[in-house]
Amino acid sequence: MSKRIVVLTGAGMSAESGIKTFRDNDGLWNNYRVEEVATPEAWAADMELVLEFYNQRRKQLFECEPNPAHYALAELQDKHDVRIITQNVDDLHERAGSKQVLHLHGELKKARSVTDPDYVIELQDWELKAGDTCPKGGQLRPHIVWFGEPVPNITLAAEIATSAEIIMVIGTSMQVYPAAGLIHYAPVDCMKYYIDPAARESSTVENMTAIRKKAGEGVPELVRELLSL
Ligand code: OAD
Repeated sequence: MSKRIVVLTGAGMSAESGIKTFRDNDGLWNNYRVEEVATPEAWAADMELVLEFYNQRRKQLFECEPNPAHYALAELQDKHDVRIITQNVDDLHERAGSKQVLHLHGELKKARSVTDPDYVIELQDWELKAGDTCPKGGQLRPHIVWFGEPVPNITLAAEIATSAEIIMVIGTSMQVYPAAGLIHYAPVDCMKYYIDPAARESSTVENMTAIRKKAGEGVPELVRELLSL
């Protein structure tokens, strides 16, 4: 029987595609903490530094491919109504074929105008430069939710989580709010699976099964099970 399956993904989802997670490594970039470059304050103080940080990450993304976990989630759509809510700014879910993907923290391949937030474009190449502007002359910035900025998609994400019949949480340390709070919107009786080598059962979340495996192994296994429901 077809079910509404809500999937919450984090950096561990894309780790096997070659994209580093945030908290598994030293979290440093050129001796800056990620929190120091991913902020409106950093943008105001040193726009070139922030552009360079995201240019490097975007360049890497153009060279990465979806991994078996991304493809397995796309396959899950053959039978179920799958809604992905991702903290990731990469486009690997979409490239694997997932149709309903909500990005909580923005999208690396997009840029938007600092003066006209509705002007959002898809970048065809990795480099965004000082002087790249919208037609009205506003500088383009990465279409990313920085630390300290509101998360516009969180209300919609909470609504989706509320409607879940099954929840999968994949590759996230569940430390960054409001994303980490989404699990609490899921109905108490809905089955919850947490796939992450560091997954732990939670004392505050009921019906949660921890699957301590990498996404590339644990997700295709669970998807096979869910396809046979
Ligand atoms: P973290 O780096 O905090 O957590 C990554 C998780 O992935 C950890 O729990 C690891 O155990 C797990 N992991 C590592 N390799 C894995 C693999 N192969 N398969 C499955 N899991 C694996 O990343 P997030 O929880 O996504 O925000 O971080 C949340 C947010 O914090 C990010 O979206 C970003 C960051 O600051 C912004 O940029 C706004």
